[in-house]
Formats: sequence, structure tokens, C-alpha cells
Amino acid sequence: MYIRSVKLRSFRNYAECELELGPHTNVFYGGNAQGKTNLLEAMYLCSRAKSYRTSSAGDLVLHGEDYGEVELRFFAAGRDQVFRMAVDKKGKKKIFLNDVPVGKVSRLLETCKVILFSPDDLLMVKKGPDLRRKFIDNSISQLKPSYLSDLVSYCRLAEQKNKLLKLIKEGRYDEATLSAWNYKLAEYAAKITAVRRQFVDEINQVNERIHFSISRQKMSVLYRPNIRESMQIEEYSRQKQVIFDYLQAHAQQEMKLGLSLYGIHRDDFELQINDTDLRQFGSQGQQRSAVLSLKLAQCELIEQKTGERALILLDDIMSELDQDRRAFLLSSFGEQQVVITCTDREVYPSNGDVHYYHVAGGTCREILETD
Ligand SMILES: Nc1ncnc2c1ncn2[C@@H]1O[C@H](COP(=O)(O)OP(=O)(O)OP(=O)(O)O)[C@@H](O)[C@H]1O
Ligand SMILES: [Mg+2]
Repeated sequence: MYIRSVKLRSFRNYAECELELGPHTNVFYGGNAQGKTNLLEAMYLCSRAKSYRTSSAGDLVLHGEDYGEVELRFFAAGRDQVFRMAVDKKGKKKIFLNDVPVGKVSRLLETCKVILFSPDDLLMVKKGPDLRRKFIDNSISQLKPSYLSDLVSYCRLAEQKNKLLKLIKEGRYDEATLSAWNYKLAEYAAKITAVRRQFVDEINQVNERIHFSISRQKMSVLYRPNIRESMQIEEYSRQKQVIFDYLQAHAQQEMKLGLSLYGIHRDDFELQINDTDLRQFGSQGQQRSAVLSLKLAQCELIEQKTGERALILLDDIMSELDQDRRAFLLSSFGEQQVVITCTDREVYPSNGDVHYYHVAGGTCREILETD
């Protein structure tokens, strides 16, 4: 997909903004705190109607205004389409794709393939399992939107189970009901485990090659399910049984703590370079190359499996990379639309035209050769 135009009204620090983008490389430059990331955030919205920076949508509305709007005209699946989102300061959203209200995020995920790369992605290597899980879950959802609805159902059930465990701990609920929840959780968990395992195999195939070209080292992603016993099981009903039995066997422990301790919400994905854990032993540069490689692999899988080229959003990434890695990154994108933010106007190699935009104090203007 690629975005043709962006229109903002009362969005973040933009009162009004209208832009046309080029189909290849688009560079947004300007000083700190001028509104570059805010623009990328607006472009990202079409992929899931949710910001990657805040969980309260009301933050998106220009301070002092009641509601804000984003309109993105884009080309995807062989035709022109339009995404619109209005949000009020309480965070209530109205979302439309081609003038039809969007009920499920999976409709957006199916249509808009967007890959964001920001310095915060490095935390995926350094921190605990949450961000690695999020990366894997996001990547799978773009390839298989039904995965997201299974995951949402699982998380909802797990939350309800937590409430139930608290009530049981306080002696306010009958513990016999717990097994019904565990049974339902095991159904979703078995499905999710199978998809995660398959995805890890697929991304490894692509990622190993890409990572080797970047750094001449071997990189692997290893799936580390929280319920280890479920790792090698292929068959769905057997998997469901193993997970259910595990949850039941640990029910007393969970009830004592009033907290759900086991399940796919605690899975991890270990990143290894030359067979050692990157988190513990990786240098900064190795960590950076690993994340870069994973993002490129994500990009390649999307194209392989959906036939659609993802839109690439690079927020402040270039300054973090050395010359070789920058060049590698840009040459990897081929025909895709890439949107780059940076503080200084720099020359970027591209397979097509490069468009430059200057961002200052909540305004954005394309800088033409003649300016
Ligand atoms: N809802 C809002 N209303 C008004 N201003 C906002 C709102 N949300 C964020 N801002 C302001 O927008 C400004 C620009 O933010 P943005 O993150 O886009 O900067 P940037 O150009 O990417 O800067 P940097 O180079 O430091 O990353 C910030 O000063 C921030 O305070
Ligand atoms: Mg920024």
C-alpha cells in the first residue's frame, strides 16, 4: 500500500494540515518537538485505529479542542481507498474505511499493511518478554487478522479469570467454576500456540538470511512457551488437553495468589546470535542489527504472503544506524513507500523520487527543488 495524501484537523499539535506524499521515499525533517512523529502517528492509524504511543485516544486531540480528525487517502489491493478517523477528547472514536464504519480492527489489518520502526523497538531486545510478544503478535495479525480476534478473546477470558481468582481467594466464589474457564482458555491457547510456533519457523527462514547479510552472524528466534509441555505437540486436541491439564494442576497455586500465572500471555521469544542470548550478551550494535533484521523480515513476509508491499514508517531511525546499515536498510525497501523523520535534511538514496517536507511548529510544507 502507499499513502497518497494526509489531512489532519485538530490532531496533536496540528490545527490543520494537508499533504500529498510521493509513492517512494518521503523525508520529514525539522527540529525537536515540531510535529514529525505526530505525522507518522497519524499515518500509522490506518493499520489499527490505535496509536502506538498512547493508549488514551483523547491525547490525539489538539489541546483546547473537542475533537480531532485524520483522513488518509491511500492505494491498496489495487484501488484507491480512504481511511477516516474522528476522535473526541474523551477518546471516543469513529472509524471509517471507504465511508463504511469499521467495527473490527481486523478489517483495517487486512487492508493496511504498515510497519513502524522507532528507537523504542530496541527495547524489544533489552526488556522483558512483553515487547517481544507484542512484535510477534503484531506481525502475525498482519498476516492473519483472525489471530488477533483469538488473542483478544483469550485476553478477555484471562482477565475474567483473574477477577474470579481474586474472588475465590477472598472466599467469595466457588472454586469449582475455575475449570470451566481453564477449559475455554485452553481452547484459545492451543490455537494461538500453534500459530505462534508456525510463525517463528517462517520468520526464521527469512530473518536468518537477512541478518546474515547485515552482520555475517547467525540469528535465530526461539519460541519459549510459558507452558513448556506444549512446545512439541502438533495435534490441536492433544495440545488443548495438555494446556488444560497444566492449568488444572496449578489451580491451587493460582487460587492462593489470586492471579493467573500460566498461559500464552506469558510466552517468550528468545533472540539468539550465534546461539547465545542476545538480551544478555549482545552489544548495542548487535541488538540494533537484530531489530533491523526482524523488521525487514516482517516486511518480506507480508509481501510474500499477502502480495502487498507494506508502508514503512521510520521514526528517527537513521541517526541511530551506521552508514553501512543505513544503506542496507534503504536498499532493502525496493519499490515500497518509505516515510522517514529526521532532524536535518539529508540526502537519501531511493529507487524513485525523494520528497522532502519541512516540519515546524505544527505546520508541514513540501520543499520543492525550486524553493
Ligand atoms: N494533543 C496535543 N495537543 C497539542 N500539542 C501536542 C499534543 N500532543 C503532543 N503535542 C506536542 O506536539 C509536539 C511535537 O511532537 P512530536 O513528537 O511530533 O515531535 P517531533 O518533531 O517528532 O520531535 P523529536 O525530534 O523530538 O522527536 C510536542 O511539543 C508535543 O508537546
Ligand atoms: Mg519524534
